[in-house]
Amino acid sequence: MRNDDAPLIRLEDYRPSDWLIDTVDLDISLQPQKTRVRALLAFRPNPEGQPGAPLKLDGDELALKSLALDGKPLDASAYTATPQALTIPSPPPHDFTLTIETELDPSANTKLMGLYRSSKVYCTQCEADGFRRITYFLDRPDVMSVYTVRLEAAKAEAPVLLSNGNLIATGEVPGTDRHFALWHDPHPKPAYLFALVGGALDHVRQDYVTADGHKVELAVYVEPGKAGRAGWALDSLVRCMRWDEKVFGRNYDLDVFNVVAVSDFNMGAMENKGLNIFNDKYVLADPQTATDGDYASIEAIIAHEYFHNWTGNRITCRDWFQLCLKEGLTVFRDQEFSADERSRSVKRIADVRTLRSTQFSEDAGPLAHPVRPRAYKEINNFYTPTVYEKGAEVIRMLKTLIGDEAFRQGMDLYFERCDGTAATIEEFLACFAESSGKDLGHFARWYEQAGTPTIVASGRYDAATRRYTLDLAQSTPPTPGQSDKQPVVLPIKLGLVGAGGDLPLQTQSNAYAGDGLVILDSASLSVTFDNVDEPPIPSLLRGLSAPARLELDLADADLVRQFSADSDSFNRWQALQTIAIRALVAAGKPGAARSALNATATGLGRALDGFLKAEALADPAFAAQVLRLPAPADIAREIGRDVDPDAIFKAHRSLSAAIGAAVLPQLPPLREALATKGTFKADASSAGRRALRNELLGLAALATPAEGAALCEEQFASADNLTDRLAALAAMTLIPGERREALITRFAAAYAGEPLVLDKWLMAQALIAEPETLERVKQLMQHPAFSLGNPNRVRALIGGFAANLTQFNRADGEGYDFVCDIVIALDKTNPQVASRLLGSFKSWRMLEPGRKQLAQEALSTVARMPNLSRDVADIAERALA
Ligand code: PHE
Ligand code: ZN
Repeated sequence: MRNDDAPLIRLEDYRPSDWLIDTVDLDISLQPQKTRVRALLAFRPNPEGQPGAPLKLDGDELALKSLALDGKPLDASAYTATPQALTIPSPPPHDFTLTIETELDPSANTKLMGLYRSSKVYCTQCEADGFRRITYFLDRPDVMSVYTVRLEAAKAEAPVLLSNGNLIATGEVPGTDRHFALWHDPHPKPAYLFALVGGALDHVRQDYVTADGHKVELAVYVEPGKAGRAGWALDSLVRCMRWDEKVFGRNYDLDVFNVVAVSDFNMGAMENKGLNIFNDKYVLADPQTATDGDYASIEAIIAHEYFHNWTGNRITCRDWFQLCLKEGLTVFRDQEFSADERSRSVKRIADVRTLRSTQFSEDAGPLAHPVRPRAYKEINNFYTPTVYEKGAEVIRMLKTLIGDEAFRQGMDLYFERCDGTAATIEEFLACFAESSGKDLGHFARWYEQAGTPTIVASGRYDAATRRYTLDLAQSTPPTPGQSDKQPVVLPIKLGLVGAGGDLPLQTQSNAYAGDGLVILDSASLSVTFDNVDEPPIPSLLRGLSAPARLELDLADADLVRQFSADSDSFNRWQALQTIAIRALVAAGKPGAARSALNATATGLGRALDGFLKAEALADPAFAAQVLRLPAPADIAREIGRDVDPDAIFKAHRSLSAAIGAAVLPQLPPLREALATKGTFKADASSAGRRALRNELLGLAALATPAEGAALCEEQFASADNLTDRLAALAAMTLIPGERREALITRFAAAYAGEPLVLDKWLMAQALIAEPETLERVKQLMQHPAFSLGNPNRVRALIGGFAANLTQFNRADGEGYDFVCDIVIALDKTNPQVASRLLGSFKSWRMLEPGRKQLAQEALSTVARMPNLSRDVADIAERALA
């Protein structure tokens, strides 16, 4: 189906299902090419649906083998079956069962949706609409059923057989080389949470007793021989289970909880009830093959999927428009968990970097959409930073607005009231309106209105009256389909910073401002603070208390003062970022003068030098964040139009090199003091030391390339962990020449046979900001470590290249053509990965005219291809609209 023909599915058209399915009994006989599925489905008319309605079950590439109603074969005249649907025009007007037999070829399933094989292991992915690739079904999240699943397979091929819920029975199949396992999940669930795994897998396990006394067997399953890398995931699981008991009062609700790592997976991981299936990148870790960043993401994603057990599974979504009900909330929960396990302020800075680079850029381009979209053609294209990350920011704002206590009470009420149901955003918000006694009607606009608001702020100090007045205004730029924007509710956490730190806040003009919170919910607002003894520096939007841009005209000198005196560490970090962004925006514009950048470099260099002397060793993780400049892509987004990536990159490089030069004398002693000694530890404080040490290495590489290259070689040779080795490689990629090529070769030799490590090697090369990179990437596609069939490989090499600001956006358009060719090729086997890759074009409209035209031509070539998947066609169409 061409996308133009694909139906637009609208929120306002939602209707309850005419039929419900109370129980599902699956009997699945696994075979590499001919897997038999027998589904016994118990139907019941939905009292909220239309009586006597026809029954139309969803399918996707299915082959029907047999069909029986209440146990009797159904006459061919009583139904129609196509690969996409099974229709019974006049079903009985009462309860009945259907027995449906289908036959699948999991080995030929390259879409990685439904039942497929990942290096011989049978596994499934059903969200959002993959279950219909296994059997005909009412494949919608508001149809919830109790599942009993019998799995059968050859013992040698699949000694491990897992499904959702609890294990009821296992046994041999007499007279054969096969065995079976019977699983039962007592909790009704939508089909997208169904899962099975069959294969030869190793595992690590641990017993766990929930706070309410329930004994649970936890296990993490991995490829044979990799059990030694599963410990961190299991440890993270135990910690996040305890955390959810303590912070949200949520206990686990089955006798087993299984996590399985597979090497071919379209996304990060999936929260199937009691059987989470993971991309192995987010499970496997040991010091030699995982970086500190990997340890942190594994901890976060294990927690994310586990937390879904309540926010997603026990309470699921009525329809896919409510996706952020589970995703935004669950991201918020995993962010809070990581903040409690590590450093809250450093975690917030890292999350804000991600929010800005992924979500703000989505919001600023043609793919912008509200946190709750109103319409879609392909739901798989809406697992976006807006639904996930901005969705989490909306929850964070809600908590800020109503306070910690009312937030917790509202969550309790939500769990109590909506447990076992498929819920909506309205039902969710009603719980918080009730717990806080506040009207959240206006706040709900965050779910409907797309775009990143800009807050314009300015302050006036009157020495005579000792008053300080803050003027605030908001506006949101238009986004596709939404030209008129209304004010949203912006909780602005703030302080007034004096020479000696925060000044007391006294005001008669605003209800919350005395507690450091101003709520800007109209177009503009003024707040006056009394008894202000000195001209203050306003510290606004502390911790990024709303997902907005802030425009506030402070002189560099004031920002440096804020950096030393602000009590909010997020805004300390932000102050120096603001100085850098402002200078880079000015220098990155066409025809900009270089002199402005020089002055900034001197000021910033001096501030950072002093900061490192005073504070680096006290909080290295924070210091690493302070040293890291905003990325060139952030500058491009700030400039917003007629963007010249090369000019931005040049400015960025020279500022980085200048900062490197300014802190150079401190480098050797600091790196020495930061070196982690003794056995490797993955904890946040050791990781912070490595982060700062490696940030300094990057600066050295830019400031003094020859010495930097030697440092990289030395660090690569002496490091006892992947974090330091990869940092050596990454820093070396900044230095063209033979030494770089030699280290690239050494790295590949050291990690041959480690696909996840080689992904990082592929990506490091794809990110080199030099014109030869395109040719290098094409060569690397021939390397044995690369495969177009594995999503992780594609994301590393091709996704890495598409994230290379200067080379993807080559002035000759060859970067666009290359990525589009791959999108077209990949679309034939894996449309989801292809369409995500095409999403790299989300910022094409901000480019200068030459590149813009080339990008548009490349996109149009994709859009014109015959037989595009709905996934790719939808992105191409919206990107060009
Ligand atoms: N629901 C998964 C998560 O965020 C993401 C996912 C979506 C995975 C669709 C696979 C397919 O936890
Ligand atoms: Zn999720």
